Amino acid sequence: MQRFTGRVAIVTGAAQGIGRAIAERLGKEGAQVFAVDLNGAGAAATAEAIGGNSTGLQCDVAEPDAVARLHADIEKAAGKLDILINAAGIVPFVPWDQVTFEEWRRVMRVNLDGLFLMCRAGSDLMRKKNYGRIVNISSNSIFAGTPNMAHYVASKGGVLTFGRALATELGAYKITVNTICPGLTDTETVQKTPHKDAFDFVEMLQAIKGHGKPQDIVPAVAFFASEEAHWITGQALSVDAGMIRW
Ligand SMILES: NC(=O)c1ccc[n+]([C@@H]2O[C@H](COP(=O)([O-])OP(=O)(O)OC[C@H]3O[C@@H](n4cnc5c(N)ncnc54)[C@H](O)[C@@H]3O)[C@@H](O)[C@H]2O)c1
Repeated sequence: MQRFTGRVAIVTGAAQGIGRAIAERLGKEGAQVFAVDLNGAGAAATAEAIGGNSTGLQCDVAEPDAVARLHADIEKAAGKLDILINAAGIVPFVPWDQVTFEEWRRVMRVNLDGLFLMCRAGSDLMRKKNYGRIVNISSNSIFAGTPNMAHYVASKGGVLTFGRALATELGAYKITVNTICPGLTDTETVQKTPHKDAFDFVEMLQAIKGHGKPQDIVPAVAFFASEEAHWITGQALSVDAGMIRW
């Protein structure tokens, strides 16, 4: 028996990058994974790579009706939800003097509105079984105050504090809520932006040298998502080769 045998999991942002790596690991360790992404073809490709009874589903996590439909479909198909990993996110590179209100809202819409909608609907399903593991992906930029992403830093700070509050309210239902703060990680999106030029600088600040990959983030997420992490909630963990030490 594997760690996630019999568990039903949603991973958002599962078409690529960190979300895909998490979805693949949960699936490999026995979970029935619903790989969710705005990019439906990418989500389907992830589910296909996992195999078994995993499914790829197209969904905009910031659309209330779409999120409600998603959870209704999953309840019908799997009968429950045990694990919710919120990895969908927008990672911008926009200097502060160019952050318009529209750009601010674009980031908040996915990183916070989407998180709210997924946690709202997901925790309602979990409460029915008195069990749940919610793991939200924030960022270590909230401690570093990384430039060119002030709106993103604000949204990811919200991810952490929201998780703390949610943990308090969901503890009664044996649902844990924890936060992972990855450091700079080599993903498709990072490669498309000037963030890709920051790896050497970031490496200088890390206790362990090297460039972060999606697979480096996965083990901490899987631990928080596991049954044995039942005594840990409302916590945050930097997964960044020791760049942030707190
Ligand atoms: N890569 C990094 O350096 C890094 C560092 C710290 C935190 N993070 C966080 O990790 C998460 C994943 O980052 P990544 O680099 O793998 O990103 P990525 O852009 O490679 O992947 C994000 C995925 O989210 C999906 N997505 C975006 N908006 C969506 C929406 N409205 N509904 C559903 N899906 C949507 C995208 O289609 C994409 O597949 C994000 O939350 C990001 O903020 C990334």
